[in-house]
Amino acid sequence: MITEPRFSDDQPAIRMAKVNHGYIKGDHVLGDVNMELNPGSFTFLTGPSGSGKTTLLQLLYAAQLPRNGKVSIFGIDTSTATRKMLTSVRRRIGVVYQDFRLLDHLSAYENAALPLRVTGRPEREYRDDVMELLHWVGLGERVQAKPTTLSGGEQQRVAIARALVNKPDLLIADEPTGNVDPEMGERLIRLILELNRRLSTTVLIATHDKSLVERLEAPILRLENGMLMHERGRIG
Ligand SMILES: Nc1ncnc2c1ncn2[C@@H]1O[C@H](COP(=O)(O)OP(=O)(O)OP(=O)(O)O)[C@@H](O)[C@H]1O
Ligand SMILES: [Mg+2]
Repeated sequence: MITEPRFSDDQPAIRMAKVNHGYIKGDHVLGDVNMELNPGSFTFLTGPSGSGKTTLLQLLYAAQLPRNGKVSIFGIDTSTATRKMLTSVRRRIGVVYQDFRLLDHLSAYENAALPLRVTGRPEREYRDDVMELLHWVGLGERVQAKPTTLSGGEQQRVAIARALVNKPDLLIADEPTGNVDPEMGERLIRLILELNRRLSTTVLIATHDKSLVERLEAPILRLENGMLMHERGRIG
């Protein structure tokens, strides 16, 4: 019998061991990467464009499997897990994609509510929470707008609301403030920090935004030439 993976505080939320990964034979976007994120930790991931941040994040929400080495999410090895186990793991992860991936035929509200709608819960149970979150990210007046009529920054905020709406155990955000002004960027990161502190959500944020990273005290991992280094602080 396949049991639901259980979240346990005594193991890392994420572990990468000797992960090698690339896209064409012989390339090493990631070379022997090791990392652990403890449950409830908040960490930034930086590195130059093309250094492999998005690739690393994709391995951490099991959108890709490592060519070599092991990636474990909540203790589940993504290379040996069944499809059912991976689905169950992914349900506990909120992802903010670098390219947003909103559904154009749905409104901002419907996009943000999607992770809750697919669980089959009646809308009346979550409507107020979704609206509150959309207000929080500054979209209270735009809830009925379709993504194509929203600015890049507004679309990004819908994507953040969608990733947070079901209070995930793990939040993986790829450049979540890349399209908003510095003030909104800080507000969004503080919202994520609040979630991290209140609900012990494990958070990993990839960002180019140096000033944002400098203003906050969280540990920083830096990816360069396929290697992952601790730039600041202990992880976890
Ligand atoms: N689907 C793919 N097929 C082939 N090569 C890819 C693919 N995705 C990424 N790459 C290559 O892998 C390397 C790392 O790309 P990745 O998108 O992970 O970098 P990044 O650090 O997220 O960059 P950015 O800061 O610009 O978002 C790059 O050299 C890129 O060209
Ligand atoms: Mg990227």
